[in-house]
Amino acid sequence: MISELLKKELQARVAHAVTSREAAVDVMKALQRHYGWLTDEAVGEAAELLGLTPLQVEELATFYEMIYRRPVGKRVIHVCDSISCWALGGESLMAHLAAALNIEPGGTTADGLFTLLPCCCLGNCGEAPTLMVGDTLHGRVTLERAGEILATERRQLAAAEG
Ligand code: FES
Repeated sequence: MISELLKKELQARVAHAVTSREAAVDVMKALQRHYGWLTDEAVGEAAELLGLTPLQVEELATFYEMIYRRPVGKRVIHVCDSISCWALGGESLMAHLAAALNIEPGGTTADGLFTLLPCCCLGNCGEAPTLMVGDTLHGRVTLERAGEILATERRQLAAAEG
């Protein structure tokens, strides 16, 4: 269940949109931040906020790769597998990260910290291979750089835990 404050914020976002569908991604992302992923409860809340049916929200959610309809780790790593990144080492990058995290692509680490997902073009083809962690894009990611990114994320997660 979301707070009254968040509910009011999202109602304002929807009120400012030309169509409720225009606000749908923002609403789903906000609910996802709140719950960690887009739970069934969140789908229901999004539907109510947007004036859509839960099925319509479900359809929108499955359309966007950054909306998760199943539990994910605290950090989701999206590795681009479209043509430019694939041609410049995207596959090796994915394999390297999977080995470092000891999971298969699509999986979540046992400690619940990381989920590793392949994704379509992130719009950063000029700096392939590209990955995204949360909302942060990383381009020209070498295997060494990938290890550094993981280490930084681990440090930030540990610091957030206190
Ligand atoms: S092909 Fe990877 S960012 Fe476009």
